[in-house]
Amino acid sequence: MQAFEDLQIVVLAAGQGKRMRSRLPKVLHPVLGWPMLAHVLHAAEQLAPAGIAVVVGEHAAQIRAALGDPANVRWARQEKPRGTGDAVAASLACWEANIVDVLVLCGDTPLVSSALLRSLVEARRKHEAALALAVMRPQDPRGYGRIVRDADGTIARVVEEADADAKVRAIAEVNAGIYCFAADFLRAQISRLSADNAQGELYLPDLVALARKQQRAVVAVEVAEEEALGVNDRVQLARAERILQRRIIQEWQRKGVTIEQPETVRIEMGVAIGEDTVIHAGCQLLGEVHIGDGCELGPYAVLRDVWLDDGVRVLPFSVLEGPETELAAGARVGPFARLRPGARLGEDVRVGNFVEVKNSVLGRGTKANHLTYLGDAEIGEGCNIGAGTITCNYDGANKHKTVIEDDVFVGSDTKLIAPVRVGKGATIGAGSIITKDVPPGGLTLSARVEQRHFPDWRRPRKKK
Ligand code: UD1
Ligand code: CA
Repeated sequence: MQAFEDLQIVVLAAGQGKRMRSRLPKVLHPVLGWPMLAHVLHAAEQLAPAGIAVVVGEHAAQIRAALGDPANVRWARQEKPRGTGDAVAASLACWEANIVDVLVLCGDTPLVSSALLRSLVEARRKHEAALALAVMRPQDPRGYGRIVRDADGTIARVVEEADADAKVRAIAEVNAGIYCFAADFLRAQISRLSADNAQGELYLPDLVALARKQQRAVVAVEVAEEEALGVNDRVQLARAERILQRRIIQEWQRKGVTIEQPETVRIEMGVAIGEDTVIHAGCQLLGEVHIGDGCELGPYAVLRDVWLDDGVRVLPFSVLEGPETELAAGARVGPFARLRPGARLGEDVRVGNFVEVKNSVLGRGTKANHLTYLGDAEIGEGCNIGAGTITCNYDGANKHKTVIEDDVFVGSDTKLIAPVRVGKGATIGAGSIITKDVPPGGLTLSARVEQRHFPDWRRPRKKK
């Protein structure tokens, strides 16, 4: 990795994000599970710059907390959102010493790649320009600043939509909002911006016209919309996510994962998937998910914050949720299974339809195949948990534990009233209500209601 030791990166994140119409600060809106700002910082970090300064406003504390207060970031404060130029000025005190270039990014362009950032710095240096800026031709240029060029094609200025007349609005080429400045130019000129415009703000892109006035070069780096889409509202948020999702899915496909009907599948940023895993249509892999080699998921399985070893199968319509939910090699769950936090399944465990497991350990080879609730249970190896078994773990105030040792057979429709322990090799008869510890081996039953027969009884019939 090439380090940019004399590069300062500034990320603007103090805007109000009014067009999102949200209580959540715009830069914290997630794109594939990460706040938008985290995507931008991730690309920035890959350049190994001298420093990264993030400009935040009234939501400073919330933003810092959401990002886990990364150690390599300095936080600058913009008291009021007076525009992108004012935001950059607010960052000056956070710049590292002996800086040659300043890369300015917006917290609302989550698709930006480190390759694009590098090419901006390189273009700026090569032409010894006052600044290099990314320009693009998006599907819909509305909301962006338009690029106005001179007759000879050189960039003259950027005009914000609010200040543009019909002729300028018709320009398809826009400012992507990502710039590399010569540090001396930016430091000297940032205080010269004026708020004499439709929004009464200090516009950073006005530095383009200022540079031209001083006969300094301005270079445009053309980028695809897929790299620089700005997110101002929730329509753009969804578009950004779709673009990034396509990129991420292709990365996994190239790493040996089969993904059926990829346009129906969601794979968030914190997911890792092993080779030869097959993901069927409609699956959602959310949060921090680890999937081993040779697994098979779905169709329509939802996994959040879970860990799957190799060769695990998650059959259709199952919902698996962590944290601390782990499936060892060869485990199989579903269809229609639900694993909640702390479900730990050993090797080759089977959890079948309409079975819910919460905060429970199931030892190697144990099976709970139908209609069961296992909560706060510790179950050994090689057990068979019959259909309709319920660990009655909750007394209305406290949770209690059920322990089932190895090689136990629990008959169907058994209630285990916790706290209770079932000894090794025990068999429990169907329909039992277990209120006391069960000794190892032998057969344990609770009293059954006598079975009676009425030979003369007739089923009622509807009158014709
Ligand atoms: C900006 C550019 C526009 C460009 C577009 C690209 C300006 C004046 N316009 O417009 O030319 O086409 O980005 O996406 O720069 N921010 C602050 N403090 C402020 C105002 C904004 O920190 O006072 C931050 C915001 O949090 C955001 C970024 O700067 O991350 C851009 O602000 P935004 O209001 O979204 O600018 P646009 O109208 O999109
Ligand atoms: Ca924007």
